[in-house]
Amino acid sequence: MKQSGYNRISHWGLETNQQGELVIGGCNVVELGNLYGTPLHVVDVGRLKETAISFCEAIEMAYPGKTSVHFAVKCNPVPGIVRILKTAGVKAEIMSEYELLLALKVGYNGSELVVNGPYKTDSLLNACLENRIRLLNVDSLTELERINQLCCKLDKTTEVLFRINPDVVPAGMNSGSAAASRKGSPFGLDMKGGEVRQAFERIQKMERILFKGFHIHIGSGVQRTDNFSKAILKLKGVVNLAGTYGYRIEVLDVGGGLGVPDSREMTSLELLLYQAFDYLPSSPVHNNEVTFKRYADSVAAAVLELINGRDLPELVVEPGRCLVSSSQLLILKVHQVKERKGIRKWLIADAGIGTLTMPTFYELHEIVLCNDVNRKQSGRVTIAGPGCFAADVVYRNKAMPDVLPGEMIAVLDSGAYFTSWESSFGFPRPAIVSAMDGRHTLLRVRETVDQMVSLDVLHD
Ligand SMILES: Cc1ncc(COP(=O)(O)O)c(C=O)c1O
Repeated sequence: MKQSGYNRISHWGLETNQQGELVIGGCNVVELGNLYGTPLHVVDVGRLKETAISFCEAIEMAYPGKTSVHFAVKCNPVPGIVRILKTAGVKAEIMSEYELLLALKVGYNGSELVVNGPYKTDSLLNACLENRIRLLNVDSLTELERINQLCCKLDKTTEVLFRINPDVVPAGMNSGSAAASRKGSPFGLDMKGGEVRQAFERIQKMERILFKGFHIHIGSGVQRTDNFSKAILKLKGVVNLAGTYGYRIEVLDVGGGLGVPDSREMTSLELLLYQAFDYLPSSPVHNNEVTFKRYADSVAAAVLELINGRDLPELVVEPGRCLVSSSQLLILKVHQVKERKGIRKWLIADAGIGTLTMPTFYELHEIVLCNDVNRKQSGRVTIAGPGCFAADVVYRNKAMPDVLPGEMIAVLDSGAYFTSWESSFGFPRPAIVSAMDGRHTLLRVRETVDQMVSLDVLHD
């Protein structure tokens, strides 16, 4: 099979040295793996910053009103990474007390945070009110009542957006990620079911809660930018409804969801065929559709059409994946190669979906051999994880070159939802290291086995 090593990696800003070894942020990946041990997450700081800055610029250029970009912390909740984004001018979006604490620790104050999610406990809401959070995005009628009760109890006021379920399923995505589908997800006020009108009826009587506008979020890894405009335009009815209650839309939060060009979610059919028959689609073809400019232009045009000459709202965006995905890779070491002639060849690696690569269960990612990027593919193998259960794989039937025990492979585009999904299933969580201009720095040390058992309580 033909493949060009350099082209396969240049999309991620990666390079090879003269020996054909993979280089990220000026650092040799194999050397990083040897130095810090594998598995290992490596973050390209320069690329991460540039990506965040160019996203913010694209939004500012496209939209004539005020804009605000909030990183969805759930996408990569590593304080060192969130801080890099903060220095690039990005604020934060959170959904739990853990993420709130993390954001405060990173140096954000409440006025830079937006809060989402269907599971806002009283304790989270209390903390949000105490920290004077910028916006609480109300997910349900009962949540609205609870926020009101807490505001009265604590003698606080707060600003809210109504999260709307616009009933939009992005093209080509599997239904499990349809975050704005009426049937598929519990999120938001049911626009078609009349909940938005009920919310306006109630909020009118709540003196401590100030309505500021609407929020939507249609899913993650969206591969076509017109899906965002379609969802935004679905808000026409509720924008008009707000007007009849005397409310102006001061803020419109269009959520996150923009996909990346070089990895993508499997479609429902692909997922079915892969899980049932081991048919793994080939690596994604670079998708030129998901550029920041196209996204920003499409969102801005839709908001202008939606607002239709009224005062421009502030545009809030909550990107996760598209800011971080392609600036990170995950190094795994192949521990053993096993082959059953005529049946299958396995590369036994030091991580699989049981510990670190959960997104490879439903997403397609490129994998390269770190010490010889140009080595020709020789056939299909199953890359298995270390867990002693059969489902612990990175991929089944992945086209790979011949790999020897001790060699390292890199899962590319691993900056989104890989660290979030990590588990300590039998093995400690790995270190995270940043690389820039040939220098490397730890962002997280490897967990120890002592730490893994340190929270357990044993009774006689
Ligand atoms: C409310 C909300 N905003 C933003 C995001 C970030 O999405 P993405 O990482 O696809 O940009 C998510 C992710 O699930 C979300 O739930």
